[in-house]
Amino acid sequence: MRHAFVVSGIVVLAALAAACGPTSSEPASAPASAPATPPAPQMTDAEKAALLATLPAPYNTGDLAAGKQAFALCQSCHTITDGGPDKTGPNLHGVFGRVAGTHGTFKYSDALKAAGFTWDAEKLDAWLANPKTFLPGNRMTFVGLKDETKRRDLIAYLKVETGYKPGE
Ligand code: HEC
Repeated sequence: MRHAFVVSGIVVLAALAAACGPTSSEPASAPASAPATPPAPQMTDAEKAALLATLPAPYNTGDLAAGKQAFALCQSCHTITDGGPDKTGPNLHGVFGRVAGTHGTFKYSDALKAAGFTWDAEKLDAWLANPKTFLPGNRMTFVGLKDETKRRDLIAYLKVETGYKPGE
């Protein structure tokens, strides 16, 4: 009995210490109203650069501005914002770590529905290089992006802009 009490006391103390941690390290001038995790956070450029730096090579050296330019090839068919609409293609928010062909009610081809893999940078790289040969029978009418550097930049941009969290 007594033993159990002491153990739970330590747990409570540890929880208290953890709860105090973040608050005490905040600068005194921080606005009290700023929520710790806003629902749809708009990342600052500095936060984007920090996330970029955590990506595995070669994506950590990606050029986000060039990636944004390359995304011009996709945006007639895809949105990337959280909760963004499907167009000719599905919304791509959260695509990294998502099983292929599973976004909402989008009507995928049988090929993509049956693909069964999870999107990561490597899969996306192969898909974007040549969608037709990567997954025969898919319905994405896109010739492919042959330039490896542009694919690197585009994938880095998509990671940063689609809600990817390091380690996913
Ligand atoms: C002409 C329209 C069009 C363009 C341009 C296009 N896509 Fe697509 N995309 C689609 C369609 C349609 C699908 C669904 C294909 C299917 O069901 O076979 C798709 C599917 C995808 C998927 C799979 C999504 C999932 O949920 O499994 C990814 C990733 C993707 N596109 C990325 C891109 C990127 C990045 C670009 C730009 C380089 C791009 N697409 C350009 C129409 C397009």
